[in-house]
Amino acid sequence: MSRLANKLAVITGGNSGIGFATAETFIAQGAKVIITGRNQAALNEAVQKLGDNAVGILADTANLAHTENLVSEISRKFGKVDVLFINAGIAKFAPIEASDEAFFDETMNINLKGAFFTSQKFLPILRDGASVIFNTTIAYHVGMPNAAVYAASKAGLLAFAKVLATEVSARNIRVNSISPGPIATPIYGKLGFPQEALDQMGANLSSKTLLRRFGSSEEIASVALFLASDDSAYMTGAELVVDGGLTLNPTDR
Ligand SMILES: NC(=O)c1ccc[n+]([C@@H]2O[C@H](COP(=O)([O-])OP(=O)(O)OC[C@H]3O[C@@H](n4cnc5c(N)ncnc54)[C@H](OP(=O)(O)O)[C@@H]3O)[C@@H](O)[C@H]2O)c1
Repeated sequence: MSRLANKLAVITGGNSGIGFATAETFIAQGAKVIITGRNQAALNEAVQKLGDNAVGILADTANLAHTENLVSEISRKFGKVDVLFINAGIAKFAPIEASDEAFFDETMNINLKGAFFTSQKFLPILRDGASVIFNTTIAYHVGMPNAAVYAASKAGLLAFAKVLATEVSARNIRVNSISPGPIATPIYGKLGFPQEALDQMGANLSSKTLLRRFGSSEEIASVALFLASDDSAYMTGAELVVDGGLTLNPTDR
C-alpha cells in the first residue's frame, strides 16, 4: 500500500544519513520528494540514487535568502507541500570552556535559526492538513559532556515545534518531532575525532542503550513515515523518542 501516494515531501539535508533514508522510504510509499543540501555534487549523487521521483535543490538552511528561494522555486514548479521534514543539522562537540562565539553561532544558525525560518517560510505553501516533522535529539534529555551547544540548539527546536503546533492547528497542520538516540550515519565521521575516540564513543553509546546497538537511518525513516502519513492523524505537538532505550537510563549499566 502506498501511504504517501500523490504527496509532495520536502526533506532538508536529504543527501545523507537519516534524510536520505527518509527520502528513499517516502518515495517507496509513492511520494515525490525534494531534498536539499549545501553541496551540489552530493545532491546530484543522491538524486541519481533516488530516481525519477526525487529532485535536489541547493539551499544552505542557515541562509535565509536560500530558504526564500527554495520556497519560491518549489511553489512555482511543484505547488503545495504535504510533508516537511526539517532534518538538516550538524553535530559539533566541545567543552563549554572551549566553545567560542563562532562555534556557538554555527550550530545555532543551522540547527535552530535555520530550522525556525525554514518552517516559517514554508507555512504559506504548506497544504492544509500537512505534516511537519522536526529532527531533534535525545542529547538534551541526558547529561552529555561536550554537547552543550548542540543539545541547547535541539532543545530550542523542540520548544519551538510545540508552539508551532498550536499556531497551525486551525489549518489542521500537524507538527511533531523525532528525537533519535545514536544512529549510524556519516555525522560521526564529521565530528573531527580520531578513529580511536570515535570507536570508544560508539561502544559507550551502544552499551547505554537497552538494545545494545546504534539504530539505523532506516529505523528513523520508518518513524518519519508514520508521522508523515495518516497513520498518525491524531498526533500533533508530540515528541517520539527513538533511542533503543538509552534515555530509560537502565540501572544495570
Ligand atoms: N546520527 C545521529 O546519531 C543523530 C542523533 C540525533 C539527531 N540527529 C539529527 O539528525 C539529523 C540528520 O543527521 P544525520 O545523522 O543523518 O547526519 P548526516 O548524514 O551528516 O546528514 C546531515 C544532513 O544535513 C545537511 N546539512 C547540514 N548542514 C546544512 C545546512 N547548513 N544546509 C543544508 N543542509 C545541511 C547535510 O548536508 P551537507 O552534506 O550539505 O552538509 C546532510 O545532508 C541532524 O539534524 C542531526 O542533528 C542525528
